[in-house]
Amino acid sequence: MLASAHAWRRWRRRPDVNAVSIIQAAPIALSQRLHALQAATAAPLEFLTQSEWARRRGDPSIADFVVGNPHEMPLEGFVSALRRHVEPHSSDWFAYKMSEPAAQDSIASALSNQFGGERFAPADVLLTTGAFAGLTVVLKTIVDAGDEVLFVSPPWFFYAALIVAEGGVPVRVCARADDFDLDLTAIEAAITPRTRAIILDSPNNPTGRIYPPRTLAGIAKVLTRASQRHGRDIFLLSS
Ligand SMILES: Cc1ncc(COP(=O)(O)O)c(C=O)c1O
Repeated sequence: MLASAHAWRRWRRRPDVNAVSIIQAAPIALSQRLHALQAATAAPLEFLTQSEWARRRGDPSIADFVVGNPHEMPLEGFVSALRRHVEPHSSDWFAYKMSEPAAQDSIASALSNQFGGERFAPADVLLTTGAFAGLTVVLKTIVDAGDEVLFVSPPWFFYAALIVAEGGVPVRVCARADDFDLDLTAIEAAITPRTRAIILDSPNNPTGRIYPPRTLAGIAKVLTRASQRHGRDIFLLSS
């Protein structure tokens, strides 16, 4: 704990101080939830700020695949769409907004085409600024304090933190070691009466595994059975 605001400001400017040590040494009382979040993010933040990778980041002789940042210039069609839409077309162009109806329409019809037979209505679509926000909204909607949320390991690096941030308990279940497919037996064994959801991503980040239809049918059976056993829905969240 640092004694004064002056000492705190001086200390923050030191080169060895990072997001992790700032939370640990904050001179004000922080919520228990933030401390839990700090514990859940300590390893990835340490890697992002203090590892060999962090030290050599930006070195042009290195092919850096650590996070999914692009390695190529953005496509011209994408850039010109951004240019076109950054020009205000009305006085409320940059105002606070909900999901844009034109985008909801377009996504609903794209989903209906992609999943033939399944009809998606614009009202089924809620837009968020990326998957971080999408997962946060969904977890906030379904998770009560102490509820368990399963995720598959090796995982995308922020699932545990997102679950902790919503008061949930992250439960890590290892993928199969030989082909990175879902280990349905291990998932079933990890389910308890407190289990609320499992987060899956296919293709998986980081393994690249695309779960085949028989695996997806298998996980559906496991979750349906467990939901019935515990009298409470267990959601499958696709990230
Ligand atoms: C599996 C997975 N989920 C969520 C995210 C976060 O996505 P976004 O950058 O759209 O918030 C990523 C980003 O790489 C991801 O790979």
